[in-house]
Amino acid sequence: MIKIAVIPGDGIGKEVVAEGLKVLRKIEELSNVKFDFQEYPFGAEHYLKTGETLPDWALEEFRHFDAIYFGAIGDPRVKPGILEHGILLKLRFSLDLYVNLRPVKLYHPKLTPLKGKEKIDMVFIRENTEGLYAGAGGFLRKGTPHEVAIQEMINTRFGVERTIRFAFEYAKTKGRKKVTLVDKANVLTYAHDLWQRVFKEVASEYQEIETDHYYVDAMAMKMIRSPEIFEVVVTPNMFGDILTDLGAEIVGGLGLAASGNINPRGVSMFEPVHGSAPDIAGKGIANPLAAILTAALMLEHLGLDREASLVEKAVAKTIEENKVTPDLGGELKTSEVGNEVVKNLEVLW
Ligand code: NAI
Ligand code: MG
Repeated sequence: MIKIAVIPGDGIGKEVVAEGLKVLRKIEELSNVKFDFQEYPFGAEHYLKTGETLPDWALEEFRHFDAIYFGAIGDPRVKPGILEHGILLKLRFSLDLYVNLRPVKLYHPKLTPLKGKEKIDMVFIRENTEGLYAGAGGFLRKGTPHEVAIQEMINTRFGVERTIRFAFEYAKTKGRKKVTLVDKANVLTYAHDLWQRVFKEVASEYQEIETDHYYVDAMAMKMIRSPEIFEVVVTPNMFGDILTDLGAEIVGGLGLAASGNINPRGVSMFEPVHGSAPDIAGKGIANPLAAILTAALMLEHLGLDREASLVEKAVAKTIEENKVTPDLGGELKTSEVGNEVVKNLEVLW
């Protein structure tokens, strides 16, 4: 029995998670895999009713699950930052989800805005708890013309090493041949010097894996010109944030982008990259494929490789047949797309 905590959250989070669960329930039907889903109400609605974002007892409960399946949070009625800090960042830091794993995979050539590209298949390993996002810094003379604002970039040997090690282990277990480091060591001569030294050290333990390096600005260009050359990319927090959005866009956009927040020795959390999309929430037109591909990523993480790969194939077939929502040029509703994926999964099984 695989125990999964489900947090649908707000807006389209609820709508797309329902479709992901539909696919997972179909897998139960087709195989002998069994899931035990437990749903939690955290999000804007719950906060507005109770003043509670994510209580500590829930965090403790999550530690006993095999994975967390998350939709999206965010609501125009709640001041920006409250839910992000109270739920998402709290999950990330308390459960030490130190890797943000984001596949950038082209499921059909028609989805990319890049001319003539057929195959894009790379995975970003973004450091997820340090760098410029560690929250270290402060103001001096705030609100005066002489204000000073400092945001410090935290790079610990421990944090850098475990992220880079994860990238090489990932490459090894997934049969990928190359790991690329992206940094800005030519300018950030202390912080990213550490990244370069650790990268070389860890790489020497993985002789069978090729290494490669780009400065972040050159990487942005290379991802547009030759995205097919990348396999596994490891990078600090902020660069990962930006480059993975660029990555999402070259393979079809937010409606298809999946992610995992990983702690290899604890419970990990899987979520589509998009937010709660208040502009389309309740209309039944949200693209559920990102949430469904997120479910596939979760299956893969749980060691269910065959099931994960079949879900991906079912999604690819659904796209091929143009049974998609308006954001991808189709006419189907959220739940109809979910039904198509389920149907294709049955055919491909
Ligand atoms: P968003 O990702 O919710 O939406 C951006 C645009 O993309 C919107 O026009 C939306 O309609 C469209 N879109 C997003 N997902 C889609 C899907 N599955 N199918 C079709 N169209 C889709 O980002 P936005 O508008 O900046 O933020 C809305 C709320 O979501 C805010 O409260 C924000 O804080 C929150 N948010 C939450 C995240 C999370 O839970 N991890 C991540 C990003 C934003
Ligand atoms: Mg981002």
